[in-house]
Parts: sequence; C-alpha cells; structure tokens
Amino acid sequence: MHTLNVALGHRSYPIHIGAGLLGRSDLLLPHIHGRQVLVVSNETVAPLYLDALIGALSGYHVATCILPDGESFKDLQHLDRIFTCLLEQRFNRDCTLIALGGGVVGDMTGFAAAAYQRGVDFIQVPTTLLAQVDSSVGGKTGVNHALGKNMIGVFKQPNVVLIDTDVLTTLPARELKAGLAEVIKYGLIRDLPFLAWLEQNIPGLLAGDASLLAEAIRQSCENKAAVVAADELEKSDLRALLNLGHTFGHAIETGMGYGAWLHGEAVATGMLMAADLSMRLGWLSADDVLRVRTLLVRAGLPVDPPQMAVEEFLQHMSVDKKVKEGRLRLVLLQALGHAVVSEAPPELLCATLSAGSALGVLK
Ligand code: NAD
Ligand code: GLY
Repeated sequence: MHTLNVALGHRSYPIHIGAGLLGRSDLLLPHIHGRQVLVVSNETVAPLYLDALIGALSGYHVATCILPDGESFKDLQHLDRIFTCLLEQRFNRDCTLIALGGGVVGDMTGFAAAAYQRGVDFIQVPTTLLAQVDSSVGGKTGVNHALGKNMIGVFKQPNVVLIDTDVLTTLPARELKAGLAEVIKYGLIRDLPFLAWLEQNIPGLLAGDASLLAEAIRQSCENKAAVVAADELEKSDLRALLNLGHTFGHAIETGMGYGAWLHGEAVATGMLMAADLSMRLGWLSADDVLRVRTLLVRAGLPVDPPQMAVEEFLQHMSVDKKVKEGRLRLVLLQALGHAVVSEAPPELLCATLSAGSALGVLK
C-alpha cells in the first residue's frame, strides 16, 4: 500500500492506494468521529461493493442512500435524496458520509456533506479510475445545471481517500479509458517524464495490469495533491491548470446532453483542442500536437469533436468558471508538460472550434 498526504494544515488528509483496501476498518475508522454513517452509492456500484465496505463498519449505525446511475442524475433534484436519507435517519452533526462510487457519487456526496447541517464529515472511496486519479482528491464537489456543467458546488475536503485498486477489475473498458484521459492530463500539464511513462505503458494500462494501474494512480494523485496543496481554492491560476481540456470538454458534455459523452472522453477531445489552439498560437509544434493525438488515440479515446456549431461551443464556454470580466480564459500548453492559463485571439479559437476531424493534424 502507498500512502500520500494532501498537505492542507489542520485539514490535511491521507490518500491510501492499494489492493483490498475496501474492507480495511483500520484505515477507515480513525476518520469517523461519531457513530452515524451514511454510505452513498449508486445502483451499479452498491451490489458490487457495498457489503465489503459495510463489513468494515461494524458497531456503527450505518444507513445507505442508493442513487440512480448516471451523469444525468447529478443534479439538485437527486442531491435532495441524500438530504432525505439523512433526515429520515435523524442523523446529526457528528455523522459521516461515505461516497462509494465514481465521480458522480463523489461530487454529490461531498456537496451534501458540506451543506447538511452546515457541514459534516465525509470520506471518499472512489471506484472508477477517473475518481481514483482525480475527482476524489482535492475537495471540489457539486452538481450540474441544465445550463452548465458543475456550476453549483462548494469546496469540501474529505477526511481520507481510500483507493482500492481491486475494484477496477469490474470497471467497463470504456470507463477505464475515460479515466486514462485525466491521467494523461497530468503528464501534459506538469509532468513530462510521466507522459513518457504513459506512452510506454499504455497497452498494459488498457489491459488492466494491476501494478501499472496502481503506479499510474500513485503518480496522478501525487501530482494532484501537490497542486491542491499549493492552491486549494483555485485562487491563483495554478489549480486551474488541472482543467486542461475541460472548457472545451464541458461544452461538449453540456451541448451533447449529460451522459452522452463520458466526462473523460470530452476531456480527451478537449485536450486535443487545447493543444491545437496552442499550436495556432505558435507554442506547440505540429509534432507535439501529433504526439498528444497519438497517445489519446492509443488510449482508445475520442479526438474528433462532435458536430457542434462554433456559436454553440462559444455559448457553453462563456459560462466557464475561468471567465473573468466577461473574457474567456483557457488552459493551454506553452510546451508539453507546461500548461498556462491564457486568453486566445478569437480568430484562432474559432479556427480550432471549426477544425473538426482535422484537429491537431494541420501542418
Ligand atoms: P461515474 O461516476 O458516472 O462512473 C462511471 C460509471 O462506472 C458509472 O456507470 C458507475 O456506476 C460505474 N462504476 C463505478 N465504479 C465501478 C466499478 N468499480 N465497477 C463497475 N462499474 C463501476 O463517472 P466518473 O468518470 O467516475 O466521474 C465523472 C464525474 O466526475 C463527472 O461528473 C465529472 O464532472 C466529475 N469530476 C469531478 C472532479 C472533481 O475534482 N471533483 C474531477 C473530475 C471529474
Ligand atoms: N479536476 C480539477 C480540479 O480538481 O481542480
């Protein structure tokens, strides 16, 4: 087992990564302070892993809240179900919420924990690769709005993140690939040696090699923890760099209808769009962009944006959280391994948005 630390002063917390951690009460119980525990999961994950987790909680008053599965249920209406479960059980302020699931369950559970009685404890037990390498760490929580992705939420750090790598054996291949998009992101924004490691090991990762996946999770969490420790609340542009590809990607997710494209798929295409725009700005070479494209394609990720009008892209992008004084700012690449937040000339942005399948292959 590897243990990393997210260094946030008195709110610091460990990330435990290893096989068979789900039932490890010794890792969970030190972070639960009252006797009431609500495990939030969904109808896909609960039948697979709820019993093992509950087995580690003997002696506690454990209730469960099982949500419908899907990004399209990550909304205020379904968030309310968690509050109903808490109130029906008469849970009080010393209760703990445990998120057992992917990023959707994690984001919703964290938001509920932040709001219930003005804040109760919360633990992340992520079960997708994407949640293990990204969403479970760092305390961004929230839900979607019909008009914008992740537009309603708060920062709420968990007490501990428990990453059981065994659960990845049941993850559908498409979800594993979507998680790899966020893994590749760390290489592109700040860790060139990791990018090269990924290029070498992508076949093994896709084949589900457990030790390679554990190593990818460890390196991703190390990168994420370092960024979060330096800029927890995204006050500077540092944490915003974690959003490479997300402004384009969120526009795809919102525009195509939540759930049509997986978050990681939209981020993958968005990262190539960001690389393409960086090339148009003269920062990346065509070979650099081809290198990004090749890795994403080898990881089985989509690189062609959907048929969406430039105006529609721009409309969805205009509600991005990085917009300042009405001006769109994007995460772009000054070099591979070195991301920056920058505005872009409208004509270059429009060229990227209208490039379609030519994206990233212009010479
Ligand atoms: P998800 O939560 O929808 O999970 C993907 C699918 O895998 C679901 O059908 C789920 O039921 C299933 N699943 C989960 N674990 C499984 C397992 N072990 N075996 C079999 N099936 C399993 O999607 P996701 O990709 O985990 O997360 C995407 C969400 O995370 C998006 O809403 C995105 O906005 C959010 N996100 C948040 C942050 C953050 O910092 N908070 C970062 C990145 C993404
Ligand atoms: N996933 C982006 C962030 O946590 O900041």
